[in-house]
Amino acid sequence: MPTITYIQPDETTSTIDVDVGLSLMHGATMNDIEGIAAECGGNAMCATCHVYVESHFDQLPPISDDEDALLYSTAAERQENSRLCCQIIANDLLNGMAVRIPQVD
Ligand code: FES
Repeated sequence: MPTITYIQPDETTSTIDVDVGLSLMHGATMNDIEGIAAECGGNAMCATCHVYVESHFDQLPPISDDEDALLYSTAAERQENSRLCCQIIANDLLNGMAVRIPQVD
């Protein structure tokens, strides 16, 4: 089971196990990680699960056209390592991954 670290804007971290096949968004919401609203429930429609991928970025599948388009409507600035964590599905290659939750004013 891969271990994922979520980094808050204030640098506090939470490291949790996420079941293979679950999205990092589901892992976060099931473990009460703050800052991931996930308003659309993981359907790539709200962009409230935006994260900056701090490691293992090269292990992710290519970004879909829908995700790419939605990342232009995030509350926090899009960066090169921006992804929607509802579209990141946990697998063993992602063990040890860290994602940063953006600061949203
Ligand atoms: S939860 Fe809505 S886009 Fe990811």
